[in-house]
Amino acid sequence: MQPASVTGNILGSYPRTAVSSKSEVEILLQLDDQVALLREGEISNRSGTIAAARWIGGLLHRYLEAVGSNSLFDLSFQEKTAFLFRLLQRYDPETATHTQRVAALAEELGSFLRLRPGSIELLRSGALLHDIGKLCISAKILNGAGALTPQQWEIIKLHPRTGFLMLNAIPGLEAVARIVLNHHERFNGSGYPAAAAGNTIPYFAQIVAICDVVDALQNKRSYKAAWSDRQVENYLDGEAQLLFAPDLCRQMREMLKQRLTSRFALVPAPVPASEPRPHLPM
Ligand SMILES: [Fe+2]
Ligand SMILES: [Fe+2]
Repeated sequence: MQPASVTGNILGSYPRTAVSSKSEVEILLQLDDQVALLREGEISNRSGTIAAARWIGGLLHRYLEAVGSNSLFDLSFQEKTAFLFRLLQRYDPETATHTQRVAALAEELGSFLRLRPGSIELLRSGALLHDIGKLCISAKILNGAGALTPQQWEIIKLHPRTGFLMLNAIPGLEAVARIVLNHHERFNGSGYPAAAAGNTIPYFAQIVAICDVVDALQNKRSYKAAWSDRQVENYLDGEAQLLFAPDLCRQMREMLKQRLTSRFALVPAPVPASEPRPHLPM
């Protein structure tokens, strides 16, 4: 692959600095090769996948440092998040569309919970990057038709850990990495990778987790239709209370209800035929 196409695609409208040094381009090319290799399915066992995640984490760190050292200032938290999100968009656009929706939902829930702006920014970044670990997993496994073998399922379940290894290597993104690591943990201990339970699961990871599941329910997947608002409400009132903190289920339900009410409030109520029509001012 030619450097121009790689830099063109990954960097896009990179805000602060053009790629000027040779080492930046070299690191970017290595990064591109490594991710492409993983997406094409060259590595499909546990230890290889973990080793690859560490390797990519190292490359990401070196690349962002190289770009930062060419600037007057270090890259900001938002710029690092944006770069990593573009990486996900380039290699796995479908997952990126999902994480974008989860980020919007997490931001909305964060505001509903009256979190501070800095916390909402962290939440948004965690939601936007929660599935970035899937970059270390072959597209053949992720998008394959038919049922997964137990071994393939084990590889998919590595994505919170591979995402953590990639992000934790980048200074300033450690808190985001913790959200990513814990986004498949469940309140009753039935999640993965550590089967953590209750409030030992970091709070922001709990928020991203419930937004992740609500987004999956509200949207069509290859194996299911999109659920109606009523179905999602029933789920939050019932089954979800075992998997997520009951208070979080309540808040999510309330937020969705308010959103629905305000949507209907925009539509004028129909006037029943039997009632006299109001006199409209001319
Ligand atoms: Fe996930
Ligand atoms: Fe997800």
